[in-house]
Amino acid sequence: MRIPAKFREARISTWLPDNGRPRLAAQTYVVCWPPEKPLLLLSGTKGVGKTHLACGILHEVFERHGQRGQFWPVVDLLDRYRATYDEDRATETVEAVDAQLRQLAVLILDDFGAHKSSEWAEERLFRLIDERYRDLRPLVVTTNAGLLELPDRVKSRLSDGSCSTLVQVSGPDRRTGA
Ligand SMILES: Nc1ncnc2c1ncn2[C@@H]1O[C@H](COP(=O)(O)OP(=O)(O)OP(=O)(O)O)[C@@H](O)[C@H]1O
Ligand SMILES: [Mg+2]
Repeated sequence: MRIPAKFREARISTWLPDNGRPRLAAQTYVVCWPPEKPLLLLSGTKGVGKTHLACGILHEVFERHGQRGQFWPVVDLLDRYRATYDEDRATETVEAVDAQLRQLAVLILDDFGAHKSSEWAEERLFRLIDERYRDLRPLVVTTNAGLLELPDRVKSRLSDGSCSTLVQVSGPDRRTGA
């Protein structure tokens, strides 16, 4: 599932505080599968536990429902797409990447907005998000950006309350305690 070593033990149940809205939203997301609202945006400043919670969701979807998803830092996914255009490096086509991602029970896009924005990158990410949106397929996005700072078409889909939940994650930076 491509969960990084640091988050191998990350679970929704170890996220604090236990009555916080982010934790409750994550619990709601995994309890009935597929979730009623398949899109989930976790937005907030650094070190507040967005990646922890996203990895907790991946773990629990597998542990509860036996369904596998994948964790993709947006920068790594864009590198993977970029490699498909490089004749010397390419080991897969864009279509193959899309097909592989499409079959995942849940896709985590971590650190959306941290990538260097180009028209090409925006289009790739938009297509991915739009497909999940149209097909009502589970997608979790984490970002340091506020909703308003996201590209318009992404913002519009993630703001659709009929299929999307927005969660503002706040608190101390748990890396530094500040
Ligand atoms: N609310 C929390 N409850 C329990 N552990 C937490 C919480 N927030 C952060 N942590 C722990 O602190 C570390 C940093 O958290 P994490 O990487 O999830 O933050 P983040 O919000 O994704 O930050 P960034 O925006 O910089 O990527 C991790 O080891 C994580 O397990
Ligand atoms: Mg993070």
